[in-house]
Parts: sequence; structure tokens; C-alpha cells
Amino acid sequence: MKISCLECQRQRSTLVEMLETRDSRRQATGDARRQDPLKDRIIIITGASSGIGEATALKLSSLGANVAVLARRKEKLEDLASRIDKAGSGKALAVCADVTSVESMRMAVAQACEYFKGSVWGLVNCAGVMHYQKVSDLDVESWNQQLDTNCRGVLNSTAAVLPSMKEAGKQGLCVYSATKHFVEAWAQELVAFGIKVTNVQPGDVKTELLMHTRDPSALAEFGGDSNRQMLESGDVAEMIAFAMTQKTHCAVNEILVEPTEAPL
Ligand SMILES: NC(=O)c1ccc[n+]([C@@H]2O[C@H](COP(=O)([O-])OP(=O)(O)OC[C@H]3O[C@@H](n4cnc5c(N)ncnc54)[C@H](OP(=O)(O)O)[C@@H]3O)[C@@H](O)[C@H]2O)c1
Repeated sequence: MKISCLECQRQRSTLVEMLETRDSRRQATGDARRQDPLKDRIIIITGASSGIGEATALKLSSLGANVAVLARRKEKLEDLASRIDKAGSGKALAVCADVTSVESMRMAVAQACEYFKGSVWGLVNCAGVMHYQKVSDLDVESWNQQLDTNCRGVLNSTAAVLPSMKEAGKQGLCVYSATKHFVEAWAQELVAFGIKVTNVQPGDVKTELLMHTRDPSALAEFGGDSNRQMLESGDVAEMIAFAMTQKTHCAVNEILVEPTEAPL
């Protein structure tokens, strides 16, 4: 079939118009996403019943994220979720979960995906325990509790969220509040899935963490100078929000944040 020059021109300009409309729609979506990078994102936060996890949940939800707040103390989580919901930005779901159990974590993630009707975009690992102690005390029970929570807990949380994060595409982000070489090595594995990983390494932060130490003499020896100003949980939450709000191609791999009076 022969097409006249006029018809040819008409078809070309219709095509150009279609492409322009598509591009400006894409740009509008991109602009909106850049303006509100966390809006409606589903983010799982472990260790959210106190300290850095709680502050992070408040910060990320204030930026529009829907946060599933996980830990073992139900009342604390419910109180946090109701404060977040009342604030009127992102929504919150309180879920009791133990990071030392992969089944518990899988159930929590499934609950979050069902409640928020979507896939997990981000994971913030704040569940952790730390006991100041002397190695010579041979408190093996405490060593194991720390390994189970701080190391296996990260593996269990990752295993629970990864299938959902893969579904969400190459945009996931994991943040670890604890500085652990173990976690750094593990994080490398996630790059293959297009998941950005930030290792947040805070110095002394004023939280409940120290209260679980069972050896008072170790606490006195290693617990630092009580007159020195420590970081607040909110300071670390700001760092986590910074890492989570960068452009897709920009990964913040590591953040080292220390009290000014105790640099390194
Ligand atoms: N504070 C600091 O100076 C400091 C410095 C560097 C790194 N960090 C790291 O930052 C992270 C957060 O610490 P934080 O200072 O915010 O301490 P925190 O106030 O004691 O918070 C720890 C959180 O972990 C939760 N948790 C503990 N065991 C758990 C388990 N088995 N399953 C689920 N949740 C569990 C606790 O909730 P439930 O008891 O309700 O389960 C709590 O919400 C930790 O990994 C810590 O090592 C802290």
C-alpha cells in the first residue's frame, strides 16, 4: 500500500507526540519519586521497640514510608505504631518477631506485605544485644545470645525479606546499625540482587543497649566516660534516612558517626 507524503508526515508527528507524552509522564513519575523517595515504600525495621530502631521508624515514617516495626515487646511496638499513625504521614504495623528464628521473621514479613499490600523495599536491621564482659568470665551463654541476635538475626532477616525485595526490583536497601565484620562480608552477597547495602557504624548512642550488661565491673571498664555527650538515637536515624533517600544509582556503603567528643 502506498502512503502519501502528507500521510507519512501525519503518522510521524503522531508518533513524536506519543513519545513526548510518554517521556514527560516518565519524567513526572521520576520527579515525584526524587521529591519523596520513601513515600509508600514498605520498610521492615527490626529492633524497633527502643533506641535506634524506634527513632528510625519515626524518621522514615515521617518521610512517608510504611513501616513494619518488629521486636519482641508487644506493648512498646503497639505504642510506637499508634504514635506513627497519629502523626499522619506513613503508616505503621506492629509485629512481634524474634530475629533468632527465621520462621518468626518469615511470618512477620508475610504479615507486613499483606497489610501494606506490596513488596518489601527496605530492611533496617537494628535488633541487637551487647553485653560488656571480660573474655575471662567465659560467659558462653551471653556469647551465644549475641551471636544468635547480631549475626544469625541478620541472616534470618535477610532470608525473610529477600524474596519480596527481589519482587520489588532493583531498588531495595538494607541498613545495619551494628558494626560487624560479619555483616560487611554478608552484605557483599546482596549486591548481586541489585540491593544497596549501607553499614551504619555508630559510636556510643544513648539507648537501652548498655542496660543488659551483666558484669558491672566490665561495664565500668569498657562503658566509656559518663560525662561525655553520647549520640542520640535520632542522630543515627538521620544517617539511615540519608542513606535511604539517595538516587537509585547512588549507594552509600558505609556511614561512620561518632560523638564529637569521642572521635574514633
Ligand atoms: N547504642 C550504641 O551505642 C550502639 C553503638 C553501635 C552499634 N549499636 C547497634 O545498634 C543496634 C540497635 O541498638 P540500640 O542502641 O538501639 O539498642 P536497644 O535500645 O537496646 O535496642 C535493641 C533492640 O533490639 C531488639 N531485640 C533484641 N533481641 C531481639 C530479638 N531476638 N528479636 C527481635 N528483636 C530483638 C530489642 O527489642 P525487644 O527486647 O523488644 O525484642 C530492641 O528493640 C544494635 O545492633 C547495636 O549493636 C548500638
